[in-house]
Amino acid sequence: MNVAVIGTGRVGLVTCVASAALGHDTIGTDVDTDKIELLQRGVPPFFEPGLREALAEQLTAGHLSFTANAADAIARAEVIFICVGTPARADGEADLLAVELAVREIARHAADGALVVEKSTVPAGTVDRVRETLRREGDGRRVHLASNPEFLREGLALRDAMEPDRIVLGVESQEARELLERLYRPLLERGVRLIVTDIRTAELAKHASNAFLATKISFVNALARICELTGADVGAVADVMGADPRIGRAFLDAGMGYGGYCLPKDVAALERLAARLGYRFGLLKEVERVNAEAVEALAERVEDALWNLEGKRIGILGLAFKPDTDDVRSSPAVALARRLLDGGAVVTGYDPKAGAATQILVPELRLADGAYEAATGADCLVLATDWEEFRTLDLAVLGRVMAHRVVVDGRNLFDPSEMDAAGFWYYPTGRPPILQHAQRSDASPSAVGVERPPALAGSPGSEIEWS
Ligand code: UGA
Repeated sequence: MNVAVIGTGRVGLVTCVASAALGHDTIGTDVDTDKIELLQRGVPPFFEPGLREALAEQLTAGHLSFTANAADAIARAEVIFICVGTPARADGEADLLAVELAVREIARHAADGALVVEKSTVPAGTVDRVRETLRREGDGRRVHLASNPEFLREGLALRDAMEPDRIVLGVESQEARELLERLYRPLLERGVRLIVTDIRTAELAKHASNAFLATKISFVNALARICELTGADVGAVADVMGADPRIGRAFLDAGMGYGGYCLPKDVAALERLAARLGYRFGLLKEVERVNAEAVEALAERVEDALWNLEGKRIGILGLAFKPDTDDVRSSPAVALARRLLDGGAVVTGYDPKAGAATQILVPELRLADGAYEAATGADCLVLATDWEEFRTLDLAVLGRVMAHRVVVDGRNLFDPSEMDAAGFWYYPTGRPPILQHAQRSDASPSAVGVERPPALAGSPGSEIEWS
């Protein structure tokens, strides 16, 4: 099939590569001409594992091309995907200007009988606006409409595109359904689950999925606060909950909260959409409040460990909003860096991919070239993004280069018993901290003991055994 993809951001570019890999002749277009030039040379404008190689493969095979001329891409396409950004406005509503501009281009240039597919995450009901615009500006041409939300995760986007959990088609005509089933035939033949709905349902299902994922994360982060107050272990609580298939263990990892481009924006957009329609979705407001609290709780743990922040040297491991991406949009790690700098600390950060992007947002942040460099001379080290390479750090080396062996773990990446054995004062999230006896005459790890956190001494529940 001939496919056009409007917008070559993180969703659009992966959609281009996946469509080409499914055997379709695909053209990507974007208003950003610099981006198009890069893509024509096979250079992705952002980091996504495997994307550079997959892009090169499809360009070489001749299945994929890029043009800055949207009219050309649209005119020849049987299926036109809209993958432009829908950022949050200051009031939380989705900004749909880029969608409107794309639809107007489509209205002017689409072939009769073409299928227009919304892949950008848009508030339920947007299709009515799309339909109106196509009618008003489309010279009576007949164009089909569909919503086909994506569920790609950054860092796993190619895998999610080629091996999705489900394909959701929001359609209002048999022609639209048939065109999309033809497009996805290789995946459907492999047994990928197909869910066909009306367009509004598909639009809402995307927002609902992201908002529910965010709700799980905020739920477990609120539990983490309670665990810190009672001495329970949030990871074990999540394991118990997750063993129930009705709940599931995924997205119950307590930490610094959710970030990125999608979850924060979609929670806000769904809450605003509901309010506009006359329903008060207060649960989502609370999800946002708990999420903001997660970064603050971590900053307070750092203060608790260091007493005063002024002049203290703090290293931050990980700046991206999650591992395997260079994306720092709404990154909890970046919010933390700002908070610590505002408190007067001297902060050095390291991220395998996101250093340069963070520096633009937080110029006062010092950047290190590696984890050990970020830790060197630090009074405290914060683990903020759970990149795999941090899991295998040599704790003995880490301890040697730091001014003080204090680690605050915002993602519960480290093993508490290993941190204990290596002599660290270790502050995980939603788990009892390990506080080394203040002074040791013998520096061997076996001489290291633990004591109860001061906040809990003599409190109810003193029957809890700390180990
Ligand atoms: C999210 C959804 O997971 C995708 O299904 C969706 O397609 C995508 O948004 C989108 O709308 O385009 P993504 O933004 O890549 O994907 O990030 P997630 O993997 O959902 O992680 C979001 C945040 O939650 C990260 O900051 C992560 O560290 C955090 N998180 C995740 C937790 O704090 N705890 C968890 O248990 C899981």
